[in-house]
Amino acid sequence: MKAILITGGAGFIGSHVVRLFVNKYPQTKIINYDKLTYAGNLSNLKDIEGHQNYVFVKGDILDAKKIRSTLEEYKVDGIIHLAAESHVDRSIRDPFAFAKTNVLGTLTLLQEAKDFWGCSLANAAQSSKKYRFYHISTDEVYGSLDFDGSLFKETDRYEPHSPYSASKASSDHFVRAYHDTFGLPVVLTNCSNNYGPYQFPEKLIPLMINNIEHNKPLPVYGKGINVRDWLYVEDHAKAIDLVFHKGTVGQTYNIGGFNEWRNIDIVKLIIRIVDRELGRAEGASDKLITYVADRAGHDLRYAIDSSKLQKELGWRPETTFTQGIEKTIKWYLSNKEWIDNITKGAYKRYYKSMYANRK
Ligand code: NAD
Ligand code: DAU
Repeated sequence: MKAILITGGAGFIGSHVVRLFVNKYPQTKIINYDKLTYAGNLSNLKDIEGHQNYVFVKGDILDAKKIRSTLEEYKVDGIIHLAAESHVDRSIRDPFAFAKTNVLGTLTLLQEAKDFWGCSLANAAQSSKKYRFYHISTDEVYGSLDFDGSLFKETDRYEPHSPYSASKASSDHFVRAYHDTFGLPVVLTNCSNNYGPYQFPEKLIPLMINNIEHNKPLPVYGKGINVRDWLYVEDHAKAIDLVFHKGTVGQTYNIGGFNEWRNIDIVKLIIRIVDRELGRAEGASDKLITYVADRAGHDLRYAIDSSKLQKELGWRPETTFTQGIEKTIKWYLSNKEWIDNITKGAYKRYYKSMYANRK
């Protein structure tokens, strides 16, 4: 590929994907197309912003004209689509924002890519040799699992429960429809919970690290028994690289860490490490744990079967949870400027509106 457009490249996962591609493929132009919502932050990419093969375009995925002019200007032949509204709690407050960006934004991008590349069923075989549209999705589209050891498979039926997961499910269907109807050469992945540097501190792990450091209550939803399958973000970025280059057109691959944790256990683990790093007595911050009202429609358990990706493309997570969580906590504690810049202003208002009356 000569020019790859990465949408949402200023966000958490997107910035890791941009960094990996800019460094690994110096002959390929990497275009970071991002609207810079509250979640987009160009300081996530300071280390690569001067690279010759990197360019940033401020744009909305709902802006068809801007997408088209960007595709034309850089002769884009690959798209990795990560731009989205990504936080479940926000989707409960404002479902329409999620339908607009995640559904209509994805549809706009699909339409522009199809037209720009001239895709049709008649030329699908040629298109699939030249172009690639890669849609990044989530395990949440599959719904929720019981505590029975079962795992989400690519063939599971979709059963989203939150406005966020419903919007992602809808976008997945549009992506497949553009493959089946217009011959657009698509690949999709559905990944489990990511963690690591540059994650916006509205999400569980960075929120807890920041609150422990500042001796603020640690809001645990419900009983804290919900289970998530955690994957270090750089391992996700490597899987994206692999699927983008080697994945079979039309296929979906699940990505996960085989790493299930109950929320309360993660919170206790983070407390132990942060207290140690800050030189506090063991368990000093346990008293900060505060059980609060549960998330509406809270999915009980996610767990991913990523054996298809492992068998077909040879991917495996490289970072153990012990290594990954240590690295992540140390990163947040030593990047105070990054976190302080985010947590002032709008974040304070968001935090108050989300947690102040959450009994
Ligand atoms: P994020 O919220 O950190 O970043 C989203 C990025 O998209 C931001 O840079 C934002 O500015 C940009 N954006 C939002 N609306 C836009 C628009 N209309 N036009 C252009 N840019 C826009 O999200 P993330 O956690 O990095 O997730 C990235 C993708 O991966 C999402 O599609 C998400 O559904 C998916 N995903 C995330 C996880 C996870 O654990 N975080 C797991 C599986 C899948
Ligand atoms: O599974 C993949 C998904 O993971 C992605 O598609 C989403 O974009 C991403 O946000 C994430 O969704 P979750 O809802 O699982 O992540 P979050 O960090 O918001 O919450 C993780 C768990 O922690 C969940 O069970 C809710 C709980 N939680 C979260 C917050 C923010 C708390 O108990 N307290 C909190 O303050």
